[in-house]
Amino acid sequence: MVAPMAKLTYGSYLRVDDLLSLQHPQSDPPHHDELLFIVIHQAYELWFRQLLHELEAVTRSLAADDLLRTGKHFKRIHAIQRLIDQQVDILETMTPQEFNQFRALLEPASGFQSAQFRELEFLCGAGRTTHFDFLEPTSEERGRLERRLSEPNVYDALKGVLRRRGFAVETPEELTASYKAIYQNPERHYDLYLLLEDFIEFDERFLLWRGRHVRMVERMIGMKHGTGGSLGVNYLEKTLAKKFFPELWAVRTELTS
Ligand code: HEM
Repeated sequence: MVAPMAKLTYGSYLRVDDLLSLQHPQSDPPHHDELLFIVIHQAYELWFRQLLHELEAVTRSLAADDLLRTGKHFKRIHAIQRLIDQQVDILETMTPQEFNQFRALLEPASGFQSAQFRELEFLCGAGRTTHFDFLEPTSEERGRLERRLSEPNVYDALKGVLRRRGFAVETPEELTASYKAIYQNPERHYDLYLLLEDFIEFDERFLLWRGRHVRMVERMIGMKHGTGGSLGVNYLEKTLAKKFFPELWAVRTELTS
């Protein structure tokens, strides 16, 4: 006889007990602010998960030339990006003095090691720009990163749409010229024109988060090295130049009325 299934509840569906058992401060006794530090990072990881899910859907809908659906996914993606930018405000209610009381206990862990963050970069076509030697070669995270690098990314998917519509996309120059043709004649290519605006908005919001994070880091630790061992702010400043879709920015300089 099959045992009767327990009735679904809010707690059992969302696994709230499991969720609330996942915050383990390093400080002993726990510093008041360490819970916030953990919760914020965990919340980021959940939103990264959702962003990956939506970007995978973008890749699929572009491959199917379904631009209306792509726009719908981007609407949600942009809303999540606005939200995660604001989460920095909450973390900034912690002062450097408070953070310093448990910061040393976090070494050598760092946001630099966020595998999902690298997955996001790879899914946007950034390529292997950072090392991930800190991940065991056989770890699941490492496997996910290698898989992302070998799978089609959103930028490939965008180029596929343009190619099927007769645009040249093989070199950066061709791509920029194709973008220019679309932007200079929106009435003729209205769906593509809106699609490109969705892409640039995504890239801009990603860069805004990087900028927000680095200013928060400077406010918190000044010019100290990071817990991950990098130069801290000096390293992060360099990442502000990382554009996923550089030709989409470059074309702006060439646009005329
Ligand atoms: C007190 C708060 C924070 C401080 C002081 C801080 C500091 C740093 C520093 C110094 C780095 C450079 C790598 C290193 O040497 O460690 C870094 C990288 C990074 N942090 Fe944070 N961070 C904070 C909060 C966050 C939060 C809430 C997130 C959200 C997930 C985050 C995500 C990242 C990511 C993804 C990187 C890698 C960036 C890249 O390589 O492009 N950090 N952080």
